[in-house]
Amino acid sequence: MRVAVARETRPGETRVALVPELVPRLTGLGYAVAVEPDAGRGALHADEDYLEAGAEVVEAAWQDADLVVSVNPLDPAVVRRLRPGTATVSFLPAAASLDLVADLRDCGVTSFAMELVPRISRAQSMDALSSQSLVSGYRCAIVAAGLLRRFLPLNMTAAGTVPPAAVVVLGAGVAGLQAIATCKRLGAVVKAYDVRAAAAEEIRSVGAQAIDLELETLEGSGGYAREMSEDRAERQRRLLAPYVAAADALITTAAVPGRQAPLLVTADMVEHMAPGSVVVDLAAESGGNVEGSVPGKVVRIGAAQVWGGANVPGQMPGPASRLYAQNVVNLVTLMTRQASEDGGAAAFAPDFEDEIVTGSCVTHDGTVWHEPTRLALEGEAPR
Ligand code: NAI
Repeated sequence: MRVAVARETRPGETRVALVPELVPRLTGLGYAVAVEPDAGRGALHADEDYLEAGAEVVEAAWQDADLVVSVNPLDPAVVRRLRPGTATVSFLPAAASLDLVADLRDCGVTSFAMELVPRISRAQSMDALSSQSLVSGYRCAIVAAGLLRRFLPLNMTAAGTVPPAAVVVLGAGVAGLQAIATCKRLGAVVKAYDVRAAAAEEIRSVGAQAIDLELETLEGSGGYAREMSEDRAERQRRLLAPYVAAADALITTAAVPGRQAPLLVTADMVEHMAPGSVVVDLAAESGGNVEGSVPGKVVRIGAAQVWGGANVPGQMPGPASRLYAQNVVNLVTLMTRQASEDGGAAAFAPDFEDEIVTGSCVTHDGTVWHEPTRLALEGEAPR
């Protein structure tokens, strides 16, 4: 059986779904691995590195593949040319890609979405949302440190004492906790806020002070946050305003699954920050936690520089690709029937009784498996 590694086509994408180091994991399972030319270039992996690791390098490798792995969904033109029964593994934001999902269904493709892998203990090694958030959170802290024209740590010198920078982090999920931990390691004084009840303890466990606004917590299902009402959002912004005004650097990472990012900080709040302050908005691409942030740009609001994140994991393509590739290989391993001693060949054979398989499957056998997406498609005008 053959696994193809796609060359990403999304503008600006630097990551790759398989790194040379992990090719032997797949060949060891009995797969032939075919990589499209230059697929690893953005992550600094040359075609020769893949060849040395035991892969082939083949243009349009998806043509005779049993499984195609990528970071972003495949182009619709490629999907329409896949053989029925081909499987794909990638990020696949199904709700926002209904036309593509319909193509995958109609072409008989079995597609798996990395963001739908259930967040259960057994699937932690396949959790690409967490691995990419880890990279993003670290990157946000480093960007804030780089834009700030001051020390992060306390410095006691013969010439006098330099106070540490004050950092505020809003949203303490995987990315936020990593941003906090990184800023702490650099010596900043960090305060953080999140709407989930469990977050305060998590914030303290990475060395920051948990901001208590004395507001009700917002627990959604599966350990995620729930959306705020406009009244709750307004009270939260008012109570956060003094913390934002006092911060040298503000890092925002708040998200609610399936929704636009919550607006946590208005332009007016940023305007009250001191000259030289820095704002890093990881959520800029999904609507923005900070009013006026622009994905991929640094804009000035008042006297602060406001950095808007755009494909932030892709700004560290080496580690982001390596972690993503580990997640993909672990998922593919789960879905592989190992070769048997009596000569049975290894095969990509997902077990549709397994909740990791059913949870992450979007289309299979000409149907849409992921129920919310199927309902959304059925609600559309006939195609
Ligand atoms: P996310 O990317 O969906 O959201 C980031 C953070 O924003 C969350 O902590 C959320 O509570 C916070 N947030 C949402 N609205 C907010 C608001 N109005 N103000 C302030 N903060 C707000 O979350 P992520 O990073 O994917 O993690 C979500 C949860 O999943 C966490 O509880 C995390 O511990 C848990 N998790 C569980 C895993 C597992 O069991 N295998 C793996 C990874 C995460």
